[in-house]
Amino acid sequence: MDFTYLTEIVYLISAILFILGLKGLSHPETARRGMHYAEVGMLLAVVGTLVSGKILTWDFIIVGIVVGSAIGAAMAIFMPMTAMPQRIALSHAFGALAAVLVGVNEFIALSKHGEISQALMAALGFEVLFGALTITGSLMAFGKLSEMISGSPVTYKGQNFVNILSFLIAVGIFVYLIFNPTNSAMFYVMIGLSLAIGIFIVLPIGGADMPVVISLMNSYAGLAAAATGFAIDNKVLIIAGSLDGASGFILSIVMSKAMNRSFANVLFGAVGSPQVNTAGLAETRPITRFGIEDTKFVLEQAERVVIVPGYGMAVAQAQHAVRELGDELEKQGIKVEYAIHPVAGRMPGHMNVLLAEANVSYDQLLEMEVINPSMDTVDVCIVIGANDVVNPAARTDKGSPIYGMPIIDVDKAKTVIVMKRSMATGFAGIENPLFYEPNTKMLFGDAKKVMQELVTEFKKV
Ligand code: TAP
Repeated sequence: MDFTYLTEIVYLISAILFILGLKGLSHPETARRGMHYAEVGMLLAVVGTLVSGKILTWDFIIVGIVVGSAIGAAMAIFMPMTAMPQRIALSHAFGALAAVLVGVNEFIALSKHGEISQALMAALGFEVLFGALTITGSLMAFGKLSEMISGSPVTYKGQNFVNILSFLIAVGIFVYLIFNPTNSAMFYVMIGLSLAIGIFIVLPIGGADMPVVISLMNSYAGLAAAATGFAIDNKVLIIAGSLDGASGFILSIVMSKAMNRSFANVLFGAVGSPQVNTAGLAETRPITRFGIEDTKFVLEQAERVVIVPGYGMAVAQAQHAVRELGDELEKQGIKVEYAIHPVAGRMPGHMNVLLAEANVSYDQLLEMEVINPSMDTVDVCIVIGANDVVNPAARTDKGSPIYGMPIIDVDKAKTVIVMKRSMATGFAGIENPLFYEPNTKMLFGDAKKVMQELVTEFKKV
């Protein structure tokens, strides 16, 4: 029976579902539905391939499905939400490994009969070049984020020159292979060099910039997959790979912009090293401490309260308690809004996902650009486990490593309550002068515990 048409139709439906999935992800309200579209799309793509009539033996496929599903399920169930960036990095490494293995397999199978055309070599070469550097680049990102290796940038004199030269040599070999497609020694040299380039390019990038690297690796893995699609004539791989490549690239640029960094600066700038404190070291001003009762008293007097969540809320899993506090305040007739910084937390949309999980209404979530102009009319701003994204040094201190990064202007609110465990720095490793401002009150403790205590206090009334 010829299943070719059935497979092509199934591929077309899955491609449409991937596009709808991406569209859905553009808004928190439709993001979950978007994910479901993409999941069904991927299932259809796999089923379409299995019924294509091109399967020669099922043994390895069944083993692959069982082992792959077990690893995927374990990663999804056991890796905490806060480890999501490194989990994604690992998935990209696996995806790129698959692309490279398919490429090498095609090369071995076809070169035996001397059947590699120049066009096919162009696709195979692109696939293994980008695939190989994505494997090691993603593993480096995984290692840095999970602290298996140091997150500090590793730099040396002439590093950019070495990196660019290695990449140009790899591209040179790639071009050579297009004209000499049967030269297997050069094919493997190119793979080896690309694996090394993956390590070289991530070495100088600090832990703070890893999410940008991960989304760039996402883009490379997508491009490698699209090239695989050309090499083995699989249309859904071409479409899905291109979507992945383009969206990963756009996301990298959006993230760089949100940190006010040029894309080139992220890739070559070696930012993210433990920073020397430029602002806080000189601080001699005292801080003002607040307890639960003081906080409740100030909140009760407010008409408009803005909650600014950050990475600490995610670590403490405090989102449900935060929403309950919001509910309690609203019961008292206080207007409650949530201000979301685009790079709060450790991955794009981190805060939106957590607050949506806690059933915070979408129309209460305001983006930084929307909330900032009216910040001086806010009575109380509660900063929960956020630090870098509310650091006024980004606006005022030209010597600060984060100078120029857009921040949520919480310091302009009438009163700011900063809720964290200590005076410790955030991810960028720099002091925050906000803590010493006269209108700032420090409320120390674990975000979940403190939020729960506040809710209990409000319920006492
Ligand atoms: P951070 O600046 O990392 O600050 C988080 C704060 O949370 C820490 O200062 C910590 O202080 C506090 N904290 C940790 N655990 C806590 C707990 N259990 N309870 C209460 N507080 C806790 O976070 P942010 O303000 O969200 O900024 C995000 C950072 O990540 C930025 O530097 C950003 O550039 C970087 N980054 C993000 C992304 C994306 S896409 N989100 C991408 C690249 C880079 P204590 O230890 O004193 O509690």
